[in-house]
Amino acid sequence: MSVETAAIDEAKVHAFVGQLIGELGATVNAGLVVIGDRLGLYKAMAGAGPISTAELAERTGTTERYVREWLNAQAAGGYVEYDPSTQRYTLPAEHALALANEASPAFACGWFQLATSTLRSEPEIREAFRSGAGFGWHEHDPGVHEGCARFFGPTYDASIVSSWLPALDGVVDKLEAGAEVADVGCGLGRSTLLMAKAYPRSRFTGFDYHPDSLALARRQAEAAGMGDRVKFEVAPAKGFPGPAAYDLVTTFDSLHDMGDPVGAARHVRETLKPDGTWMVVEPLAGDKVEDNLNPIGRAYYSFSNFLCTPSSLAQEVGLALGAQAGEPRIRDVATAAGFTRFRRATEGMIHLVYEVRP
Ligand SMILES: C[S@@+](CC[C@H](N)C(=O)[O-])C[C@H]1O[C@@H](n2cnc3c(N)ncnc32)[C@H](O)[C@@H]1O
Repeated sequence: MSVETAAIDEAKVHAFVGQLIGELGATVNAGLVVIGDRLGLYKAMAGAGPISTAELAERTGTTERYVREWLNAQAAGGYVEYDPSTQRYTLPAEHALALANEASPAFACGWFQLATSTLRSEPEIREAFRSGAGFGWHEHDPGVHEGCARFFGPTYDASIVSSWLPALDGVVDKLEAGAEVADVGCGLGRSTLLMAKAYPRSRFTGFDYHPDSLALARRQAEAAGMGDRVKFEVAPAKGFPGPAAYDLVTTFDSLHDMGDPVGAARHVRETLKPDGTWMVVEPLAGDKVEDNLNPIGRAYYSFSNFLCTPSSLAQEVGLALGAQAGEPRIRDVATAAGFTRFRRATEGMIHLVYEVRP
């Protein structure tokens, strides 16, 4: 029997290897973004105009030799501009929004904190590929927990109050009048706190099974002077307190991380008032794999390998929806839990928002 070898298209090999070189630089540069973020290098460059390596080092209390190497990597990647005639480097105002302005919806440094912290668990996840075991959210480097809050935070700040909650039927009126809200799988409570700030007549409780995340959430609440109106309690999604107590239950990027999302959804239904609403925020995803073969799908599938899928597999049932579950599977979860009304209320650049009602 003769074995035919597929003809190799040399141009295709070159193109792909060229692509991989770009990805190699981007991968290592992720660590440099974290350094730039943590050491205030981007912030020192924002609005500073063309700056020399020595000036940047002096302004940030860092060493010129390291800063020079860092700036050259930033320039090679197009993050900053380099002027050979003056040997000065400029962070364009548009890039500063993404790299130096924590309050901007474009702020991206948290993405790289999340990515680099996520990769610390590569040996354990590699082993899990073999064993099929899960790896809990709590088992990851703490940079994952903080990085996740900083990853989603800018989007939440720009969307939850201004567009996502208003897309739900009657919810804003209830929040303005004074509602009881549970934010389930709240992590560091960024969503909980910003809703609490916007609706001072309502009461908010953030639940999560991870005590360390909630300790950070409580600290944020105290720093914001909201210690009395916002509570954070350790509880699993299937067991947080309050039969028929809530006007609104929210799950922000947490449902697909749960081992038993149907069990959690059933519990949400039991804890909602009869006219209550469950707002489900999930990663943007199409219905089929082929709909997700794009940069956003790639990022979510990649994180899902390390974070979402192992998180679910570490819990009972282990349904492992993954970060690209898509609307039909989220609808199935809600329907299986006995909800009768389900609709896609709105969507963001990286999120889908569903309104689910008893
Ligand atoms: C991707 S993080 C999202 C955190 C936060 N909602 C946010 O958007 O930044 C998922 C969160 O779900 C929590 N979680 C996962 N499974 C859970 C469960 N069964 N019960 C309660 N919380 C759970 C994790 O501890 C983690 O904080």
